[in-house]
Amino acid sequence: MTIHKSKVAVAGCGLVGSSIAFSLLVQGLCDELLLLDSNREKALGEAMDLKDCIGYLGRNTRVRVGNYEDCGDADVVLIAAGPPPRPGQTRLDTLDASVAVARAIVEPIRKSGFDGIFLIVSNPVDVISHYVLRLSGFPKTRVIGSGTALDSSRLQNLLGGILRVDPRSVHALAMGEHGDSQMIPWSCVTVSGKPIAGLLAGGGELQGLAEKTARRGFEILNRKGATCYGIAAAATGILKAVLQDENRILPVSTLLEGEYGENNVFCGVPAILNRTGVADVLELGLTAEELSLFRASAAVIRDTSEKLFA
Ligand code: LAC
Repeated sequence: MTIHKSKVAVAGCGLVGSSIAFSLLVQGLCDELLLLDSNREKALGEAMDLKDCIGYLGRNTRVRVGNYEDCGDADVVLIAAGPPPRPGQTRLDTLDASVAVARAIVEPIRKSGFDGIFLIVSNPVDVISHYVLRLSGFPKTRVIGSGTALDSSRLQNLLGGILRVDPRSVHALAMGEHGDSQMIPWSCVTVSGKPIAGLLAGGGELQGLAEKTARRGFEILNRKGATCYGIAAAATGILKAVLQDENRILPVSTLLEGEYGENNVFCGVPAILNRTGVADVLELGLTAEELSLFRASAAVIRDTSEKLFA
């Protein structure tokens, strides 16, 4: 009997990639962690620092630095390479740099024989995820973007603070672009089954919360120069759903093929995640206004993707 050993490769050992690696290690989610970075010394330093945790953790995870060729037997390759937006930039402004990095990563990994799942967190994540789908030739189920998973936990956090309840008791999500055009399907937001509309003033307050959620990444970026822990937790939640075959529903970026009336665009939508990747997309019953906002967000993503693929 051969025991399957789970292996995750993290491509890009910057602040986000190394935070995700640390989160994976602390949660003991895989047997082997492979760190990849064009700066090998940086990757070695991260690997050494991570190995020093093992004595205090619940699992002895093998941590090593490798090359793209070592990804052939990986279950998941996480792409975290690429720069954060500079002050005044949007995530879309980092497109060219992230495209160049994705191109340099995906081709050698594909040649390694890798046939697992790509998880992309590099921004602009919706467009870069679509780009990785095209470069890899993988089925859509096996190319996942972190999408609005982080935005959704930010919304839960904001609503939990206002309502003075545990954010985990707030069932809320953001959809569409991981960016300024994202939207919140307020008609689907509940607190322990109670519609949010009966708990908040509605109207202007909801709009203000939506804007605050969308801008939170920049509120953090402007103070500490980057974000890392929120995206690390979100990416780890997605990885856990895949590695442990959870059938968990999370708002991730996936290729839409008719859902919500959209085709050929990666968007943040609630999806069922398991060992196959994106097993299914959930079509929520959005109001006409919510669907219009979602489709407008999809159009923002598509405009950028179409320019890239032109
Ligand atoms: C943020 C980055 C991950 O929103 O886009 O923090």
